[in-house]
Amino acid sequence: MILLTGATGYIGSHTWVELLLAGHQVVGIDNFSNSNPKVLNRIKQISGQEPVFYSGDVRDRAPLNKIFQTHNVKAVIHFAALKAVGESVQKPLQYYQNNLSGLLMLAEVMQEHKCTHFVFSSSATVYHPNNPIPYQENMPLGSTSPYGWSKYMSEQILRDIEIANHDFSVAYLRYFNPVGAHASGLIGEDPRGVPNNLMPYVTQVAVGQRDHLSVYGGDWPTADGTGVRDYIHVVDLARGHVKALNYLLSGKGSITANLGAGKGYSVLDLVKAFEKASNKKIPYKIVDRRAGDIAAFYADPTLAKDKLDWSVEYDLNRMCEDSWRWQSQNPNGFE
Ligand SMILES: NC(=O)c1ccc[n+]([C@@H]2O[C@H](COP(=O)([O-])OP(=O)(O)OC[C@H]3O[C@@H](n4cnc5c(N)ncnc54)[C@H](O)[C@@H]3O)[C@@H](O)[C@H]2O)c1
Repeated sequence: MILLTGATGYIGSHTWVELLLAGHQVVGIDNFSNSNPKVLNRIKQISGQEPVFYSGDVRDRAPLNKIFQTHNVKAVIHFAALKAVGESVQKPLQYYQNNLSGLLMLAEVMQEHKCTHFVFSSSATVYHPNNPIPYQENMPLGSTSPYGWSKYMSEQILRDIEIANHDFSVAYLRYFNPVGAHASGLIGEDPRGVPNNLMPYVTQVAVGQRDHLSVYGGDWPTADGTGVRDYIHVVDLARGHVKALNYLLSGKGSITANLGAGKGYSVLDLVKAFEKASNKKIPYKIVDRRAGDIAAFYADPTLAKDKLDWSVEYDLNRMCEDSWRWQSQNPNGFE
């Protein structure tokens, strides 16, 4: 069994599907703080299998103990975390509390049950913003938000556990900007309230939930003046987890890898690709830059290619087509 925490969230649900496809057995846990129980039925529809699931919080010992006592958990993929960079600046305690306490409790329970393989959802936000692009795994770390620091600290905690326990191996996966949805249109990103990320904002404008997109800064030193990011299809990202899991299970030891496409697209590139995929006009307004944002970053994904035999399959057009299918089939998300 593979335990997924944050299993019903955006990346967790897509990874769940890919793990089942690859023949793994999966048990999930989530407290639904940022996801919807209806995801479970969608996973069943896609996979034809009844999901094994526990509703609970990873900061609580009891549900984790129950899972480890009931199932033979060979490895954990830890998605459960709060993830909104801007919100973390307003609510640092909540972010450190949730993201670090959850990790500590999970690691303790894993140790008690002698489970030694851990796939960690890290983030491109752990790279120091002054690094040159593309970002490589060995570049200096540092962050600009409590969210990013919580990932940085989590990496450090896991590295210290590795030093104390040589059997413990970790895949530190640093994701860039996941977008897109499963090709079925049955699962996708369903943010609560105002979306923090570009793609769900764009899709909500397309279905008429919002009248225009605000583009934060039109005077960045980039080709069209808007910010440049490395967008990666969530299904490609999910497959990266399957590869990383297999790497750990085959006893190769720990690995730190960027999961990104290795290409930068600007906000306006994405808007244009989305307009083409959806045949909808996306009105936008250029507004002030957001504090803490940077002009451009993208991954060097060479290490993941060499060590995990993983690289992305889907391009920006496909990301937009799948995001649009999900949003147009589910204008109100899972509700
Ligand atoms: N989406 C991104 O842009 C992005 C980029 C880099 C890294 N990440 C990381 O990837 C992971 C998954 O992100 P996502 O986009 O799927 O987010 P998400 O919010 O959709 O999924 C996270 C899930 O974890 C659950 N959760 C949160 N705290 C919990 C707790 N204490 N106990 C149990 N469940 C809890 C939420 O209910 C949610 O279902 C997170 O760790 C996030 O920080 C995300």
